[in-house]
Parts: sequence; C-alpha cells; structure tokens
Amino acid sequence: MNLTVIGTGYVGLVTGACFAEMGNTVYCVDIDGEKIARLKQGIIPIYEPGLERIVQSNYQEGRLRFTTSLAEAMADSNVYFIAVGTPPGEDGSADLSYVLGVAAEIGQHLSDYAVVVNKSTVPVGTADRVRAAVQGELAKRGVEQAFDVVSNPEFLKEGAAVEDFMRPDRIIIGSDSERAGEVMRLLYADFSRNHDRIMVMGVRDAEMTKYTANAMLATKISFMNEIANLCDKLGVDVEKVRLGIGSDSRIGYSFIYPGCGYGGSCFPKDVSALIHMAEQNQLFPLVLQSVHQRNMFQKLLMGEKIVARFGQDLSGKTFALWGLAFKPGTDDMREAPSIVLLHQLISCGAKVQAYDPIAMDAARRELPRAWFDNGSLTLAEHQYDALKGADALALVTEWKPFRHPDFDAMKRMMNSPVIFDGRNQYDPVRMAAEGFEYFGIGRGK
Ligand code: UGA
Repeated sequence: MNLTVIGTGYVGLVTGACFAEMGNTVYCVDIDGEKIARLKQGIIPIYEPGLERIVQSNYQEGRLRFTTSLAEAMADSNVYFIAVGTPPGEDGSADLSYVLGVAAEIGQHLSDYAVVVNKSTVPVGTADRVRAAVQGELAKRGVEQAFDVVSNPEFLKEGAAVEDFMRPDRIIIGSDSERAGEVMRLLYADFSRNHDRIMVMGVRDAEMTKYTANAMLATKISFMNEIANLCDKLGVDVEKVRLGIGSDSRIGYSFIYPGCGYGGSCFPKDVSALIHMAEQNQLFPLVLQSVHQRNMFQKLLMGEKIVARFGQDLSGKTFALWGLAFKPGTDDMREAPSIVLLHQLISCGAKVQAYDPIAMDAARRELPRAWFDNGSLTLAEHQYDALKGADALALVTEWKPFRHPDFDAMKRMMNSPVIFDGRNQYDPVRMAAEGFEYFGIGRGK
C-alpha cells in the first residue's frame, strides 16, 4: 500500500519506518525542511533503538520517502496518518491546532477516496472535528469527495517503540465505516499474524481507550508511590509489599514500581487532558486529580529527603546525580524528575555533577544555561567522575550500568557515603553492610 504519515516526530517516524519495513511505500511529511533534509541523509532526530537502521535501509530501498509537500505525498497515496503534536494548553487541554491544520490541508488536496487516520493522542470527539475540517475545505473548493476518518492510537513505549510497533499487544482501530475498517485491517494484517491482535471499535471508543490506558498505568504508579511513602513512615519495605501484591494475577507485577515520579511526554499530558475532559462534562475527576497531584509531590520527594538529611542550606555541598532522562532507554528529558531535583538542589545552593548514558546532549540543550555558566551544574564524562568529592549520590533514572556499581570505588571517591536511591535499585541491608547511609523510596526510613 502507499501511505502518508504527517509529522516526523517520535510517533510519525516510527510509524512510517515500520510500515515501510513491511514493504509499503511511505511518504513522511514534515513542515520542518531542515529535519527532512537531515532525514534524507540518514540523520535521526531522536534516540530510539533500532530506528536508525530501518529508516536508513528503507530510504535507500525507496520505500521510505521524505518530503515537505503534503500535496506531493497525497497524489501517490490514499491513507493519511496524522501524527503531529498535541501539546498541553494552559488549562491542561490538548492543543489541536496542528491536527486540525493538517486536516484542513488534506481537504485542500483530496481528490480520491482516502482514509484519514488520527494517530496523535486526541480528545474524544476529535475525529468529528477532523472530518469537519476536511469537509470544510472540500466545500470551499466545491468538491464532493468521499473519505473516512479513523482513530488508530499508538501504544509505543519510548526506548522500545520499534519493537512495540512490530509486535503489538493490540491494534486498536476506531472506525465507523466498514470500508475504512477493511483498509486498516489489511494494512495491519502483517503485524497480527500469530493471533488476531486487531480490535475494531467505534471512533470515540478508540479515542477513549488510548487515554484510559495511559491514565490507568499512571494510576498504578501514583497509588504505589503513595503506599511507599506510608511504608517509609511505618518502617515497612515497600519492595516486599510490591512482590507480595504483584503475585496476585489480578494485580500483576508491572507498573507498580515506586519511585521519584513518572515523567515523559505522555502520562502527565494525558492525565491532565482527561481531567480537563471530565471537568468540561461537569464531573469531578477525583481519582485522576489525585494521580496527577501525587506525581507532582513525588517528584519533590528526593529533594525533601536530601534537605532533611543535609539541611536547607546546601551551599558548599556537592551532589552526584545519576540519570537525567525520564526513564532508561531514551534521551528524552521531558517532565523528567531529574529536572525537579536539579531545581531544588541548585536553589538551595548545592553544586551538582550529573551523568546520563544517553541524555547528555539533551541536558546541554534543555537545561538552563545559567546553571552551566555559574558552575552549579557540571556534566561528568563517566558515572564515576560524577562522584568525585560528592557528599551524596542521587540515583534518578534506573539505567542498567547503575545497577551493580563498584561500591568500594564509589566510597573512595565520595566525600561521604550517602545514597538517595529514587528507583530502589539497591538493597538497604547490603548498602548498610557496604558502609553506605541509604535512603530509598518506601524502604522503611
Ligand atoms: C507510555 C505508555 O507506556 C505507552 O504505552 C504509550 O504509548 C506512551 O506512553 C504514549 O502515550 O505515547 P512512555 O511515556 O514511553 O510510554 O513511558 P513508560 O515506559 O510508560 O514510563 C512512563 C513513566 O513511568 C516513566 O517516568 C517511568 O519511570 C515511570 N514508571 C513506570 C514508574 O515510576 N513506575 C513503574 O512501575 C513504571
């Protein structure tokens, strides 16, 4: 099939490259000419395992094409995926101006039956607005042209996006038209070979499924974080509790790891958007609001533990920080707990020596210039360099190389052997035996 994917961000590029990998011809369209030029040279704007190879090879094979012209792409394809950003507005609602802008442009060029697919995470009812935007432009042109709008949300995890696309748990297709449903089934059949993973439902059902999945996962995390904080007060080790409850198949082991809060471009934004949708419908989304608030407080927790141990005035103190990305396997720092901790430490006068295996360039780009200029923040070349002269280590992202470090070497480098472990990577008993003062999340102190 010939497809067009509009938006070469994280979702669009993975979608386009994976469909091309299955033999389809895919046009990837973006208004950013520089980005398109770089993609043609095989330069990928994001770090995502496995993506570079399939982008480069499919581009060379001619199946993956990059252009800034939607008209050119549309002339040679009849399924159009909208995969542009939906950033949160001031009030937490999703900003749909990019999505609707693309829909209008599709209406300006549409000349054959096509399926317009919403891939971006959009509030319930957006498919109707996309339909209206396309229709509005057709009407201006005085053209009558059949088309369908489908919702096809993505469930890609950063750091495992290619794998998730190629081997999905489920493929959700929201379609109110049989014709469009068939086109989508055919397109996804290759990703659903072993057993049928395709679920066709109403458009609004599919839109809601996406938000509900992310909000449910965020709820599991916030719930567990709240339990962890109580464990701290009661002298209970939450890691034992986690294993105890995870063994109940109704609860399961996944997404119940307590920590210093969830980040990323999806959970915070999607929970906020769902709250907004509920409020707009005169409901009080008590659970969702609590999930959101717990997470805001949870991001402050490590800083509070550090202040409780070292005092409010941290001038003259140096902290090592391991992990800047919002989770392992990505260089994405959006909404990362590390940013909140950096603000807390630096505003109390501390110096921070930070290290991340992948997100160092992102940190240089995205963190306040002043922190680097006035020496509040330095980026270490190696995880051990960050420890030199440090009064404590704060582990914020659970990258694998942090799991089994050389504790003796660490003690020799640090000023004092203190660890604040925001992801419960270490065993408190072993840490005590190694001679460390250890603070985890919900480990009983
Ligand atoms: C999430 C969903 O998992 C994807 O299914 C979805 O497609 C995606 O959002 C999206 O909407 O685009 P992602 O943001 O890549 O994917 O990140 P996750 O792996 O889900 O992790 C989110 C956050 O939760 C991270 O900060 C992680 O550290 C935290 N987390 C996760 C915990 O604190 N505890 C856990 O037990 C699990």
